[in-house]
This record gives sequence, C-alpha cells and structure tokens, in this order.
Amino acid sequence: MDAPKEIFLKDYKLPDYYFDTVDLSFSLGEEKTTVYAKIGVVSRVDGAASPLVLDGVDLKLISVKINGNELKEGDFNLDSRHLILTSPPSGNFILENVVEILPHKNTSLEGLYKSSGNFCTQCEAEGFRKITFYQDRPDVMAKYTCRIEADKSLYPVLLSNGNLIEQGDLEGGKHFAVWEDPFKKPCYLFALVAAQLESRNDTFTTCSGRKVSLKIWTPSQDLPKTEHAMYCLKAAMKWDEDVFGREYDLDIYNIVSVPDNIGAMENKSLNIFNSELVLASPETATDAGYAAILGVIGHEYFHNWTGNRVTCRDWFQLSLKEGLTVFRDHEFSSDLGSRTAKRISDASRIRISQFSQDAGPMAHPVRPHSYIKIDNFYTVTVYAKGAEVVRMYKTLLGSQGFRKGMDLYFQRHDGQAVTCEDFFAAMRDANDADFANFLLWYSQAGTPVVKVTSSYNAEARTFSLKFSQTVAPTPGQPVKEPMFIPVATGLVDSSGKDMPLSSVYHDGKLESVTCGGQPVYTTFLRVTKGEEEFVFSDVPQKPIPSLLRGYSAPIRLQSDLTDNDLFFLLAHDSDEFNRWEAGQILARKLMYSQVFNFQKTNALVLDPQFVHGIKCILLDSSLDKEFIAKAITLPGEGELMDMLEVADPDAVHAVRKFIKKQLASELKQEFLNLVKENRSSEKYVFDHTNMARRALKNTALGYLASLEDEEITELVLHEYKSATNMTDQFSALAAIAQKPGKARDDALADFYNQWQHDDLVVNKWFALQSSSDIPGNVKNIYKLLSHQAFDLKNPNKVYSLIGGFRGSLVNFHAKDGSGYKFLGEIALQLDKLNPQMASGLVSAFSRWKRFDETRQNLAKAQLEMMVSTNGLSENVYEIASKSLA
Ligand code: ARG
Ligand code: ZN
Repeated sequence: MDAPKEIFLKDYKLPDYYFDTVDLSFSLGEEKTTVYAKIGVVSRVDGAASPLVLDGVDLKLISVKINGNELKEGDFNLDSRHLILTSPPSGNFILENVVEILPHKNTSLEGLYKSSGNFCTQCEAEGFRKITFYQDRPDVMAKYTCRIEADKSLYPVLLSNGNLIEQGDLEGGKHFAVWEDPFKKPCYLFALVAAQLESRNDTFTTCSGRKVSLKIWTPSQDLPKTEHAMYCLKAAMKWDEDVFGREYDLDIYNIVSVPDNIGAMENKSLNIFNSELVLASPETATDAGYAAILGVIGHEYFHNWTGNRVTCRDWFQLSLKEGLTVFRDHEFSSDLGSRTAKRISDASRIRISQFSQDAGPMAHPVRPHSYIKIDNFYTVTVYAKGAEVVRMYKTLLGSQGFRKGMDLYFQRHDGQAVTCEDFFAAMRDANDADFANFLLWYSQAGTPVVKVTSSYNAEARTFSLKFSQTVAPTPGQPVKEPMFIPVATGLVDSSGKDMPLSSVYHDGKLESVTCGGQPVYTTFLRVTKGEEEFVFSDVPQKPIPSLLRGYSAPIRLQSDLTDNDLFFLLAHDSDEFNRWEAGQILARKLMYSQVFNFQKTNALVLDPQFVHGIKCILLDSSLDKEFIAKAITLPGEGELMDMLEVADPDAVHAVRKFIKKQLASELKQEFLNLVKENRSSEKYVFDHTNMARRALKNTALGYLASLEDEEITELVLHEYKSATNMTDQFSALAAIAQKPGKARDDALADFYNQWQHDDLVVNKWFALQSSSDIPGNVKNIYKLLSHQAFDLKNPNKVYSLIGGFRGSLVNFHAKDGSGYKFLGEIALQLDKLNPQMASGLVSAFSRWKRFDETRQNLAKAQLEMMVSTNGLSENVYEIASKSLA
C-alpha cells in the first residue's frame, strides 16, 4: 500500500479546469460495462497548460481523445488512481475517454455495482472515479446527459438524473434510454439504475401549480410496502414549500429501493435508498422504522435545495449540506409528530454518540481540518452536531430571522459550490446579527463543559447565574477558546410556575429581555467567555433555574441544582425537555452511586424518592404518553460509562439491570395497568397518538419482563401471540428475550419461522440476538454468522448482526477478550469486500484507553493486528492508526 496521504483543508485550491458538459454513454453487460464519456473542458486560467489530473480507480482505459485526436503514450500518465494529461491545449477543448469496468465484481457499494441482479450507483463521496476518469470533486459542476444501453428483458427500467428525452429498442434484445439533467451538478450526485423493478406512481402539484410525477421503484412484490414512503415524500414536498418556500424543480422524482446500499442518497431526481428506509407495512415494520422512513425520505428530498442546488465547495464542508439537511429533517419530523419527543431523541444521540466521539481519538470539528478517507467523516459530529449548530442560528435569530437567512443563502448561492462561512455570512447579513465568535463551532472540536452556580439575593431581589466553560483538548487541538453558547433559561417559582423575566445585568449593563414590551418566560443568555455572570433583576422569591431549555446548545451542563430542585423540575418545569432532563440527571446520579456499591461488593439499593418520582410521572394523565415512555426509561449503559474514570461495563450493566428490575417490582401494578390500558385491537395507524400509546405499553412490558414471575412470562407471551403489528410483536419478543431459557429460544425460533421470507424482518431478528446482554453471547453470534440468512456482503445484515453486537457493552467488552477478537476478525474479512463498512466497525475500538489494563491490552492487540495487515484499506488504516496514536 502507498503510504496513505492526509488531505488538508488549508491546501484547498480552485481547479485549473472546469467541466461544462458531460455526456455519458453506458453499455451495460454481464461480463463488463463500457463507459464512454465526452467532457467539455474549460480552462480557468488563461493560457495555462498545467496538467489535467483526472481521478480514476479500477478502470481499464481503452482510449482517450482530445478534440477528436487519440492520445498516444507520452501524452498522458496512468497510475492506479489517476490519468494525467500532461499538456492539454490551452483554451476550451473536448475530452473523450472510453473505459471498461466490472460492476458485478464491485463489492464496495460505491461506483457502479450490482444489487440483487440490478445495476445501481453510489457516487458520494468519491465513487464516480470508479465509473470514469474525472475531476472527482464537488466544485466541478457540469450539465449531464446519460445514455444507457442494456438487455431489455433483464433491465426493463433504465433511469438516470433529470428528464427522459429519448428511448427505444435496439438489436439483439437490447434497448436504450437517454436522460438529460438541466441542472449542473457535481459528479457525486450522478446516478444510474438499470433494473427489473416496478413503480408506485403518484403526483404532487407544487405551489406554483406544476405537476410532478412521483415514482417509487421496488421489486413488484414489495410495491404494497411503499405506501408510507409515498406519503412521506408528498409530506416533505409540501413542508419544504410551507416552511422554507422551496419548490421542487423538475417534473419527475424517482426513488429506487435496493437491498444493498450504504443508506440513502440524494442523487438529483433519482434518490437511491436502502430498502430498509423505504419499505414498511404494519405487520413488518415497527414504529421506529416508520419514523426513520419519514426522516430519511424527508432528508434526501430536502437535499434538493440544501446539497444539490447549493452544494459544497470541497468535502471538508460536508456539514454545510448534512448538518443543515439533518436540521431540516428533524424539524420536519417534529412538525409531523411530537416536538418534545423528537428533541429528546436527538439530544440523546448527541450526548451518547457525539460526545463519545469528541472524547476519543477520532474527535474532529464539524468541519474537519484533515482526513485520509472522507468516508470516515460521515460522522455523528458532521451530521448531528452540525445540525445542532444550525439549530443555534435559529435559536439566536428566531424563526423569522432564520428564514430570512435561509432565503438569502439560496438567493446568493443557488447553483454554486460554497463553504460554511458562506452560510454563516448569509445568516449574519440577512439579520444584521452580531454572532461574536460563533464560527468556532465549525473549527473547534470537543464538547464544551459549562458549569453554572446560582445565588439569590433576597434584599436586592436579584438572582445570579455564574457560568464558566472549558473545552477539553482533542487530537491536534491542545488549547481551546471559549465558545458562543446560547443558554435558554427560565426561572421557576415555588408553585412551579415560570416567573416573568424583564431584565438581566450582564457585562456592566442592564439589558432588557422583554419582547415587544412584554416580559418573557424563557430568555437566551449569550455565554461567550471563559467566565461570566448574569444577574436577573426584580426576582421576588428564590427561583429554581431551568437551564438550557430544549437543549439549546450541544454542551455538557453541570449545575448546582440539588436533588430536591431536580425532583421539583421533574414534576413542574414548563419546558418538557427539562422535565425529562431532570429525571435523567437524577437517574444518572443514582446509578453512579450504585456503581461504587457494586465495585465494593456492597448491596445495591434504590432510593425510594426516585421510585416515587417515576411513579408520579407514570400516573400523570396530563402528560403525553411518548413523553412518559421516554421519561421512565433509564439512561443507557454507555452514558453511565462516560461518567466513570475507568469504564466498567460489568458494574454499569449490573446496576442498570438492578434498578430496572427493582422499579418493575415496586411499580408492578402500575406497569400492569399501563399494559392493559394501552392495548388496542384496532388497525395500525402511524400517528403520534397511537405511536405514543404503543411506546408506553411496550416500555411497561419491558420493565415487567425483567421480573422472575410466571404470571408475567404468560403475559408477555400473550402479548407476543396476540400482536397484530410488528411494533407490538417485536417489543414482546424483545421482552421475552431479555432472559436466557426455553421461553426465549422458542420465541426466537417461532419468530424466524414466521418471517424467514422477509429479509428486513430477519435483520431485526439478527440484531435482537446480537445486541443481547445474555452472558457469553459471542458464541451465539459465531453460530449466526453461518446462518443461511446471513451474508457478509449485505450492509443491512452486517449492521444487524455485527454492528448490533457492539450494542451489548458487557459482551463486546467481555474481559476474556472474546468480543474484541470476534470484531477484529470480522472487520478484516469485511475490509476485503467493503472498506467503508469495515472501518465503521473498527471505530468500536476507538475508546479502548477508557478501560482497565486487561481490556486495554486486548483491544490494543486487535488494533495492532489490523495496522500490520497487508493490503489493509485506507479506511480502516485511518481509524485503527488514529486509535493507536
Ligand atoms: N449524502 C448521503 C446522505 O446524507 C449520505 C452518503 C453517504 N456516503 C458515504 N460515503 N458514507 O443522505
Ligand atoms: Zn444527507
């Protein structure tokens, strides 16, 4: 392997050559595919004759021509990654090349490959170079046509971006289609599909009255399962018009569902989706699956404006499109479901996954400074923290100000490839805003930790909040600066009501915080310094502060609230997010204290006040049921591990299990009532009310099933057998599967028997088993690897069975090293097939230094074994070597 090269943002240079037009012609074959490309090249620099460097990987060059003249050896250099035209003519010219590729041998899921017999593509980030020689970078934008020629009976459907302008039959049982995309685009948005599929058809009439033809393509037997996806697509199109004034811009929108795909991809007018993110029926998909489809169909649709019409200058700017589009899909899902419940899930993801990334060797800013493989940076930091950064603009500017900023962004940059600063500037300029050092959110990695102490002065009737903030060092960034953090704050009085807020003393000035002359109940404190104080005036009694309402910034907040304060907020805060948060803080404190009991082999105990707090939430009929389900769910083991000096998976697991079981035992009657009251025999409906009801019932069932109790086993089995939809059936199965034994084995066998014909359901069955905490589970996973339904080439199966295994902290981190050994072996096997998937798995090792010495040595040995493997991919190399550093 050539020494992997690190690429730096600071080295960005404009391309010397632009491409204006690209005409592609594919002759698709079973043995090989021929790709002809004709590119209109425009030289950016007058009279320059700098070499034109084209990217190309796994391509067999047949010929290359400039202005119709075939180039001879000496006119170009060819290596395993590039075709370099040494002295192209000055001025504009036509470049033509012909290559051969082998899609049926391509297991990387990038470039042109075969999925279940059909041809499809995935070009983001750098897959287009596996199709033809090209300047594979997003700031090269061109207008494309694409002609596809293939066997008609095998591939009756031929699709590419834009509009179909010609089609017809050819000799030898072949046919062809020509597509033309009127919008210029970077090559990562190119797509082609040649397949045996059928479509669900619908139409959407845009706000200006244009009729758009909508098609969702799947194998014919799956068409009934596309109803939900079509509903989501139309809802997304309408929402983007209503909320952002963005109208769809072509007459056709295709979504193709394939079983093998990295996830979902926003190719212009030809989205390609993993079938898991398209197909759903009540019997086969859970509420979580339905919700994921809503979010992702929305996400890829919203990319049409944030990503496609305005794209990224270079891959360091990935969050420009991903953070913004995730923010948009979060807002979409909130508007269609419950805002609080969505906010809780999204904030949890930040705190569990993103903070963990920040604390490890792969910590990087929302806009990374360097990478070896950009594929390794499709991360929770770029996506989810990036979305939080966008959310902060909205928090600071309000809905209207944010909309003005978005409008200006589109107005300025439609058709361009731009940077995160351009987005920042649009927000600032549209609002004449003072954003202080807000840009640091893009460049500084790590989680800000904010400490708050409060004090009340009865005489002066003032209430003070003192903030201090730090950001821990991350690789390559030893010294950090203070960030700009909007802290949404309310003051709660002793009756549980919000106090009216009118002015705050800060930085030597008394500032009014009223809105239109009226007092407000939540104000946004702008914390920008290492240390600073805010003093509320006219505060008639000692309040309890409700801080960081709605999780107004992606930070870790440490306040001096007492347990009593927290119980009070849990019961009364008008900000539902903070009610949930208060319960979680209490639960974490409680679990944390029990970890030490466990480590000292003391008996574990459960604080009765906590049980009471949970009970009050359970019985509060004024609360939303999905909220209750979330509020009674204990923080995950990972969150607790993050609080410990030395991660101790055994202790954390034992403590969480103990508290869960103890709560189940003390609140058994309440949980039983919840199960009974929230059953429904009616037809499955995907709406908030019904989802919330199912969530609450199934959460209660999960608690009950932790008890050793014949009667409960009967109940759970009854729920399993009487379920009429997958949400209920699968929840009951998961409840039964908590404990090893015959009931578990029988239920798992029964479930497989019932669903073996449906791959997507079988994946859930794999994941349930692989993520199980039952002792010594790794040997079951080895067995499942050779199960007839498993296939290392299919990403969904790999995520379910192997990715799922990482979900069980006790088993993955087993002290005998069996979990590490398993993952290390599989990652290397997978690396030969699909480096992107392999490096995803390897990241599970990245926090190895958090563990005790025994585990450290075992994990380190796996990483060392990887980096010393011959032929290791750059993807895995980057993660493994950075983890060892
Ligand atoms: N742009 C796609 C999305 O966010 C994801 C592409 C993933 N590509 C990759 N190489 N991981 O919807
Ligand atoms: Zn995206």
